[in-house]
Amino acid sequence: MPIIAPSLLSADFLQLASACKMLNESNADWFHLDVMDGRFVPNISFGPMIVEFIRKATTKVCDVHLMIEEPEKYAEQFKNAGADILTVHIEACKHLHRNIQQIKSLGMKAGVAINPHTPVSLLENILQDIDLVCLMSVNPGFGGQKFIPQTIDKIKTLRQMCVDKNLQTHIEIDGGVTLENASTIIAAGADVLVAGNTVFKSSNPIETIAKLKEV
Ligand code: DX5
Ligand code: ZN
Repeated sequence: MPIIAPSLLSADFLQLASACKMLNESNADWFHLDVMDGRFVPNISFGPMIVEFIRKATTKVCDVHLMIEEPEKYAEQFKNAGADILTVHIEACKHLHRNIQQIKSLGMKAGVAINPHTPVSLLENILQDIDLVCLMSVNPGFGGQKFIPQTIDKIKTLRQMCVDKNLQTHIEIDGGVTLENASTIIAAGADVLVAGNTVFKSSNPIETIAKLKEV
């Protein structure tokens, strides 16, 4: 069964407590938290302070997706805020290996996210050091966008790379995941589904999460 990681970016921020309560009572496995700086991506969301509040509202895994420049400046703050997994963008890291070592030495799991235009082959020499690859299936910055179909081939290639290296790395798909495309995504080799709009704009989020889990 896939790991389901609803993105709180699509939640009503005035009702964050009830969104957390709903996720706690649902089959969701992880809380996906999207941090945007207005530089790496053309949008600003929230920082460590909000992560800290959410951390207090759940015992589930806090999967923090940093869409920010110079993530090394903030890794410790996100650790202190309670992040379990910290994912940085390959496009934002000049010294990715160093950034990964920093995240792991702080005691978090390390993820690398790649934009739609970035080939998975660039992960060849970092794959053995990381716990998760986040394949962006939309251009990062906003919820509610359409899934980019080329992502399916990237998932297959990446899964094969993991098999060849005998690695159990999580392959997380982020952006435009729906009840319609989830099974194709999983069949291609992904094991973590991020879902923002599909969950939070649904009339019955708990049931939608359960359906994603059954994929
Ligand atoms: C996009 C974020 C995603 C986004 C997913 O920049 O990284 O996590 O919130 O939202 P949906 O599922 O609505 O595409
Ligand atoms: Zn995300």
